[in-house]
Amino acid sequence: MRVVVVSATSVIAVACVKRLAETGSHEFVLVGRSKERLAVTANDLGLRFPASKFSVELVDFASTSSIGSMVANLSKSVIDLVLVAQGSLTEQKKASADLAYLWSELELNAVSVAVVAEAFAGVLATQGFGTLGVIGSVAGDRGRAYNYSYGASKALLENYTQGLQQRFGSSEVAVCLIKPGPTATPMTTSHAGKMADPNDVAKVIVAGLLAKRRVIYAPSLWRYIMLVVRLIPFAIFKRLTF
Ligand SMILES: NC(=O)c1ccc[n+]([C@@H]2O[C@H](COP(=O)([O-])OP(=O)(O)OC[C@H]3O[C@@H](n4cnc5c(N)ncnc54)[C@H](OP(=O)(O)O)[C@@H]3O)[C@@H](O)[C@H]2O)c1
Repeated sequence: MRVVVVSATSVIAVACVKRLAETGSHEFVLVGRSKERLAVTANDLGLRFPASKFSVELVDFASTSSIGSMVANLSKSVIDLVLVAQGSLTEQKKASADLAYLWSELELNAVSVAVVAEAFAGVLATQGFGTLGVIGSVAGDRGRAYNYSYGASKALLENYTQGLQQRFGSSEVAVCLIKPGPTATPMTTSHAGKMADPNDVAKVIVAGLLAKRRVIYAPSLWRYIMLVVRLIPFAIFKRLTF
């Protein structure tokens, strides 16, 4: 398989690459904004998985021309699987007080992901097959006071991927929305509470991508937790603090 991993320095994305590399020899293109961090990641993965190939590709997530050239460059060969992982856990208090910060967070978490997904969707449409996995979050399932700026970005990705799923409904192109629950990565180091192991999360994500599931909660239990959260009547929800 030829696999493109966008924002390949993400701990969840790297765990997914490792999981895939355990299943066979694949060709991975690691895409990101930092040449140095990508090189370290590619080098480490190359040593662990000598049967697979790893190359790197730079992108500026704030530039449509950079995203366009990266996708055009990578689409010269067949792409079997794309994973889009960039994201930042927006600090809600800061976002409420600093509109420039809010703007940049919404741009990264919603706009850049949608633009990257759209560009790769075009490539898969031309090929007539392939899987596009987009990392959203359980936070997108219901707006909550403590993280609605981040949650709203992830909710946009839900609507976006639903549209893509309908567009490709009767074709061999699959679009999967991945919704991790709280997971122990650099993004959550300053956050309290129980965190899932990224390798456990990656197992669920990779199984879901290979099975072309439309929505992948990881760990799977979050499907039921968020169902309950969505069903709580607003009269009760407004008094809750989680
Ligand atoms: N960890 C969780 O609890 C959790 C839960 C639900 C969803 N998610 C989602 O999972 C995805 C991966 O996150 P992770 O948990 O693996 O965290 P992570 O290890 O901190 O990875 C974050 C990734 O986003 C990139 N990134 C962060 N800020 C950026 C910016 N301003 N501009 C460009 N790239 C930026 C990072 O690139 P650099 O290495 O270049 O900084 C890195 O590749 C994200 O979409 C996140 O929202 C995570």
